[in-house]
Amino acid sequence: MAKVLENLPKNNFNENLLVGLETSDDAAVYKLTDEIALIQTLDFFTPMVDDPYVFGQISAANALSDVYAMGGVPSVCMNIVCFPSCYDMNVLGEILRGGFDKVKESGALLVGGHTVDDKEPKYGLSVSGIVNPNKVLSNANAKVNDKLILTKPIGVGILNTAMKENLLDENISKKVIETMIHLNKYAAKSFDEINVNSVTDITGFGLLGHILEMAKASNVSIEIDSSEVPILEGAISMANMGIIPAGMYKNKDYISKDVLVSDIDTAIEDILYDPQTSGGLLVSVSEENAEKLVSSMLKNGSLEAKIIGTVKEKSDKFIYVK
Ligand code: CO
Ligand code: CO
Repeated sequence: MAKVLENLPKNNFNENLLVGLETSDDAAVYKLTDEIALIQTLDFFTPMVDDPYVFGQISAANALSDVYAMGGVPSVCMNIVCFPSCYDMNVLGEILRGGFDKVKESGALLVGGHTVDDKEPKYGLSVSGIVNPNKVLSNANAKVNDKLILTKPIGVGILNTAMKENLLDENISKKVIETMIHLNKYAAKSFDEINVNSVTDITGFGLLGHILEMAKASNVSIEIDSSEVPILEGAISMANMGIIPAGMYKNKDYISKDVLVSDIDTAIEDILYDPQTSGGLLVSVSEENAEKLVSSMLKNGSLEAKIIGTVKEKSDKFIYVK
């Protein structure tokens, strides 16, 4: 599969394409004028929660996130919908209402979309945003001695798996949902106030997978202090019980050769590989601006803002976890 994809034809060079396929970044960025570049991205997935309104919100928050990860502001969105024609249309209505509410909260406009008949429901957004071409943030610019800041707690994949098995009490479920529907808009607001070097968002490849992409694209090594990583309540006990999504093992298989983990709890290690749905931003910022960025993000309404690691000169492994 990967081989087939590698051999696909490539675009010709275009000087207006500021971010394309090469760095596994979050979205494409295309310069329109000296002041305006278009950010384009899309994301959609199958429901991970039973409540269709919540599902719509999560999926929209997740799709919008890639625009924030590029330093931009979302402007127009379109629905991508797969839905069985024999299902209750009120369910679809609730999904779309959830999506609409998050798009509205983002300040963007929902301007249309497309629906196809499908056995399993799927929902997401195609999002266009704008950014100043000189202020595009990518995952490829982390600098040695930078601090890394994470803006949402992790463990969502494990807790979603537990939620499906009805293993979570209501308070924990609420917190997981609140984390997934939270817009990265609030954390990203701080990029107007404080210069940062590199940004990505944490989704399916888990914290370590997205850190690896940043480390590779920036040609640095990254040291993570696992005791500083914010983890959702309940995730450690669920991981200890073996309530772990298949995606965690896939991530670990794929990523662990580039990671050196010192003696830490297996449950914590698993959580670092846990695939996230609508996760937070991971930001690389100079050491002198790190604390300022943390307070600014919290002041702007970010759910979390925690320094979890340091960027180092590239050495043997891309990631060191202690
Ligand atoms: Co992303
Ligand atoms: Co994405």
